[in-house]
Parts: sequence; C-alpha cells; structure tokens
Amino acid sequence: MSMQSVQGNGKITVPDLMQRKSLAAGSPNKKKITCLTAYDYPTARLMDEAGVEVVLVGDSVAMVMLGYESTLPLTLEESLHHTKAVRRGVQRALVVADMPYGSYHGELNEALRNAMRFVKEAGAEAVKVEGGERRLELISRLTEAEIPVMGHVGLTPQSVNALGGYRVQGKTPGTAEQVLRDARAVEAAGAFAIVLEAMPRELAAEITQALHIPTIGIGAGPDCDGQILVLHDMLGLTFQDPPKFARRYANVGEIISQAVREYCADVQKGNFPADAESYHAPASVKGRNAIAIAR
Ligand code: KIV
Repeated sequence: MSMQSVQGNGKITVPDLMQRKSLAAGSPNKKKITCLTAYDYPTARLMDEAGVEVVLVGDSVAMVMLGYESTLPLTLEESLHHTKAVRRGVQRALVVADMPYGSYHGELNEALRNAMRFVKEAGAEAVKVEGGERRLELISRLTEAEIPVMGHVGLTPQSVNALGGYRVQGKTPGTAEQVLRDARAVEAAGAFAIVLEAMPRELAAEITQALHIPTIGIGAGPDCDGQILVLHDMLGLTFQDPPKFARRYANVGEIISQAVREYCADVQKGNFPADAESYHAPASVKGRNAIAIAR
C-alpha cells in the first residue's frame, strides 16, 4: 500500500492516515493531518481542491449553519442532508460524518442502522461518535460492520448538559487520567483516529504518544498528529469572537456584508443591472413581442 494513496490517485483513505502515524519521526511522509468541517457543496469543494485531507461534516452544522443553540437538536435527516451535499463536492479528501446526538445513544442495532445510512445514502467513508469508555461496544459494533469510526474525547459538545458547559477537560490529575482512559478505550474498540477537544496540550501530547491511531486536535495544542477547526470559526462567520484555540484566517462575514451593502446601494441608485448585464431583443423583433422572445 503506497503512503501517497491506496488507490494511486491521491485519494485519502483510512489506511493512509493510520499508516502515517506509524512512520518514524522525521520521515518525509510523516506530515500532520489536515482536517476542517464542511456542511455544503461549495465549501466542501473549495477545501477539497485546496488540499485539506479530511472533511468532517460536523454536528457543529447545528450551530453555525442552522442557528440552533447547541448541537443537541440536530436530527439524523438534517445530518444526512448536509453529508450528501458535502459528498458531491469532495473527490480527494476523506469524508467523515458526525453522528448527531440521539442517533447512537440508544439500542446498538439502531445505532448501526443509522451509521449505515451515512455510508449507503450519503456516501460518508467514516463516522464520528463522541465519548470514550462508554462507547466501546458501539465502536466495536460499527467497525465489525466495516464502518471506520473516528472517536472524540475531552470536551464532547453533545455532553454539554452533563458537563455543565463547554469547559476545558482533563485539568486535574484525576480527570486527565479519565480522558487518557477514554482515548485508550476508543483505540481498543477499533477506531481509526480520535479527536481530542479542549484539553491541556500536555495531556494531548501524552495521549498522542500513548496511542497508535492518529490524534486530531482542536484546542488541544500543537503536538497532535493532525488539527481540525470549525470552518466558520476560521472564516469569521459565527457572529462572535472565535474561541481561544481558533485562528481567524479571513473575515468572510465582513466580505459578505460589504458585498450585500454595495448591491443594495447599486439597486437603489439604478446602477444595477447595467446595460451589459441585460438581455437584448434581436433587431428583427425589436418593438414587437420583444419580452417573450428575449427570455
Ligand atoms: O462538530 C464538529 O465540528 C466537531 C469538531 C469540533 C471536531 O466535532
């Protein structure tokens, strides 16, 4: 199996990412894994063409695209809808679908059926589930059914009510030990990678050392095997200051607002559309049934 690609065409696959972890430090192919969230066709396509390796259809779609207060209300059908759109935009990156709250918390067979819908109907190549030790059985069940699973430990936003808010996890020796146990459980259950969210960088570094699967950090410092950000945080599209760990690479919100202000002003002043932006009737029909023909 080549390190560049299993299929020889640059396509990023699960075995690719796992093999990268096993490379010796300093090996030229031991590059950090780049991941971003996407929720629609154009952004998924743009980020795929720009070279991102893993596209996560995060349940953060609930907050950043759909305007919900948390990720909890997101439904399975909404997640599938967004995953299908992303799938259509991506050729090279690995597409991972985040299973929404409630779609894997009950009976195992139901969770398996829901995960399969992401693969069969939406074209996801893997699913992500939040939680550590208590997801052991679920992760084993999904991987037995040939569904690659990405785990997610530390701050798990679907547990916001249980955690009492969005807080950095693993800051005391006892809680750090629990996060490490959770990460080990996710690996033992067969996950191919794991998201480490909002924890001290020292703990993330220790977990990255301890595991044989790649760690993907968000608010977990620079020592993880890869990094992920919520696209809307890095583009300034969230209507609030980005979290401490997110770097803002562009202010797309302001670009959109400015473009809309200019458009409104042009329409009101009669500057849009210009003659060059208008259709013209052919000379032979000018003055006759011009409107119908010009369409
Ligand atoms: O839903 C999401 O965007 C995520 C990332 C923060 C990892 O789970």
